[in-house]
This record gives sequence, C-alpha cells and structure tokens, in this order.
Amino acid sequence: MALRLGDLAPDFTADTTHGSIEFYTWKGDSWAVLFSHPRDFTPVCTTELGTVAGLKAAFEQRNTKVIGLSVDPLDAHQRWESDIQDVTGNIVNFPMIADPDRTVAMLYDMIHPNVSETATVRSVFIIGPDHKVKLTLTYPASTGRNFQEVLRVLDSLQLTAQYAVATPANWQDGDDVIVLPSVSDDEARTRFPKGFAKHKPYLRVTPQPNK
Ligand code: BEZ
Repeated sequence: MALRLGDLAPDFTADTTHGSIEFYTWKGDSWAVLFSHPRDFTPVCTTELGTVAGLKAAFEQRNTKVIGLSVDPLDAHQRWESDIQDVTGNIVNFPMIADPDRTVAMLYDMIHPNVSETATVRSVFIIGPDHKVKLTLTYPASTGRNFQEVLRVLDSLQLTAQYAVATPANWQDGDDVIVLPSVSDDEARTRFPKGFAKHKPYLRVTPQPNK
C-alpha cells in the first residue's frame, strides 16, 4: 500500500555504497530525504545525483541526511559514481541503496507497474526526526526533479513544525508566513510579537518568526 503523510516510514536494512545500512540507526533523529531513480547509467539520473551531491552543505544546514536508491546492483552504483563526477564535477557523497530484489522499493511503493514492472519511478520521501513521512513526491522517468524545491519544502516543514504558521504559495525562507487559522488574534499577538496583517479573518500574515 502507498505510504501516506503521517505514516511511519518503514525501517529496513540494505546494501549501499556506504556499506550495510539499517535505516533508522543511520538516520538517527535527523531529517532524511530518501529518493529513488529509475536506472543507473541514464542521463537524467546522472544530472540528478550530481546535483544532490552538490547540495551537501545545504542539506547539512537543515540537519538532513540524504539517501538514494535504485534497483541496480552495488557494483553498477560504484562504477556509475565516476561518470557522475565526470559530468557534474561532484563526488557522490551520500549512500545509494542497491535494491536488486526490490525490497525497499516495494516497502515504499516506488515501482508503479503501469509505467514499468521493473524500474523505480522518481520518488522523494521527506522523513522527520520522528521517522514519520512528511512529504512525498512522485515524478516520471522523463522529468528530473527540482532539488531546490526539496530544500524549500524542508525549510517550510522545519519552520511549521516549530511555530503555529503555514507557508504561502511560492514561499521562500525569509518571506512572510501565515498565522494558522486555529490561533486567535489575541494569541497571535503574544506568539508573534512582530505583529500581523489581517487581510481576511482567515488570512493573517506575519514576518517569519525565527528571522
Ligand atoms: C534518465 O535518467 O535519463 C532516464 C531513466 C529512465 C528512463 C528514461 C530516462
């Protein structure tokens, strides 16, 4: 069954380019991004993995560990890494799960048989410190993902986990945020001392509280 927001992300043990990993132990109480790609030695995937490798510092700033997956074997992952470095200039600095028997792919519903019986789609799971699923994305093989969007969502998830706010369309870290409708005006004055603008009774905007 598909994983839904709020579900516990399944734990697993898998062979990876960084050795055998027991997911919960590896993740600890960090945030995690688990993402799949369809096949090794393919062009879009090459650009994606190099891009993620180049964002190492950005993920670390967000206390987030990254782990990739495809159903290709470990030796293919290892051979492909040098191509990724050649093309993108980035050394792959996160583990890639080799899942040839599809154990993890099935646990996370990463194979969509009406597209391919064998290859994983481009899934992204953001998993919180509590091991619960906070975001899912599913892209087809033909469309490379925007990993700036993954970072943007992490910023929103981490902010909204801490404050009674939500983030509006196209929000970027540092922009104004929305006071949750469940917070009364009186409470909002206490919680958000910088004040808020009331555009509608249900739409109140305040400066980002942790800036
Ligand atoms: C790619 O990464 O370029 C790709 C992978 C599988 C199917 C199509 C494209």
